[in-house]
Amino acid sequence: MLSTGSSSTEAARPLQGPPLWLLAELTYRCPLQCPYCSNPLDFARQGQELDTAQWIDVFTQARALGAAQLGFSGGEPLVREDLGELIGAARELGYYTNLITSGMGLTEKKILQFHEAGLDHIQVSFQASDEEVNNLLAGSRKAFEQKLAMARAVKAAGYPMVLNFVTHRHNIDHIDRIIDLCVALEADFVELATCQYYGWAELNRAGLLPTRTQLERAESVVNAYRTRLQAEGNPCRLILVTPDYYEERPKGCMNGWGNIFLTVTPDGTALPCHSARQLPVTFPNVREHSLAHIWYDSFGFNRFRGFDWMPEPCRSCDEKTRDFGGCRCQAYLLTGDASQADPVCSKSPHHHKILTARAEAELPQPPIEALTFRNERASRIICKG
Ligand code: FES
Repeated sequence: MLSTGSSSTEAARPLQGPPLWLLAELTYRCPLQCPYCSNPLDFARQGQELDTAQWIDVFTQARALGAAQLGFSGGEPLVREDLGELIGAARELGYYTNLITSGMGLTEKKILQFHEAGLDHIQVSFQASDEEVNNLLAGSRKAFEQKLAMARAVKAAGYPMVLNFVTHRHNIDHIDRIIDLCVALEADFVELATCQYYGWAELNRAGLLPTRTQLERAESVVNAYRTRLQAEGNPCRLILVTPDYYEERPKGCMNGWGNIFLTVTPDGTALPCHSARQLPVTFPNVREHSLAHIWYDSFGFNRFRGFDWMPEPCRSCDEKTRDFGGCRCQAYLLTGDASQADPVCSKSPHHHKILTARAEAELPQPPIEALTFRNERASRIICKG
């Protein structure tokens, strides 16, 4: 229900801390069509977006629970005409706010408006270091030029320049050019994040997963740049996120299910992570329940909390307090059972699925154009099955 209120099971709450991060996926609308988007494949059939008052009520309830960080995401959050108003409301509530954007639809005027409304941080994503590949991946001929202009405008407005590049087999060999571009733009932070294989990226995984050789080369290039930038006194920081498909132990995804992260999707469905919608678990909606009930008492948020739900090999594993059995979404996508150990773990009986994916990555792959791009038409086709 979209109003603050207490739940009936207050006594159970001390066992679980409050949500600290709120991710507001304001919309699934987006002018781009990246084939690695983490939005659900069936986004085209999702319900009506929450309106301005409903979002502000969500922010108010989450803040009352203890959330301190608020990310505005999507889709492309800039397509929401009320974004400035939402930023202002979040600032009033005392959040640290972050806008995660493709830069499409951003203008110098909007940056100033958001700055005045109290926005703390802007992250602009790029697809590649050269115009042709960037625009091909984005599905827009204007994307690269617009992103360059907006990255500069963000910095000119007094924000640190935070750039995000999703890397995959089609651009990871150009990681040196990507870093050169970031240095030329005078970026402060650069996130070089290899695809995480959920949503559209999972659909396109065979065409996106880099080979181990590509990955190792990229790591060595990034390390060489770090050394050089430090020697030159350049403050640009490079953050490299490698794909867990080449690890032997899983990541402690979301720092544990329902532990600190709370995502609210455009139609008000609340999730413990941005990809959980694809799981065969019923998740609550903020139109029907208070956030306090959703966070502390709902079935969906409690489904994989703690350790009691774990089968072997996680149950008796002495690493479970560090990795929580890995990622529930990845376990479901790869095994059909979200309670299984994440197959990234070499102790998982399904680890061969990861080994198969690594072997597939060594095969010649079709061109970028053969990927399935994230757009309404493709989503509707997928919905029809
Ligand atoms: Fe959903 Fe890991 S992405 S639990």
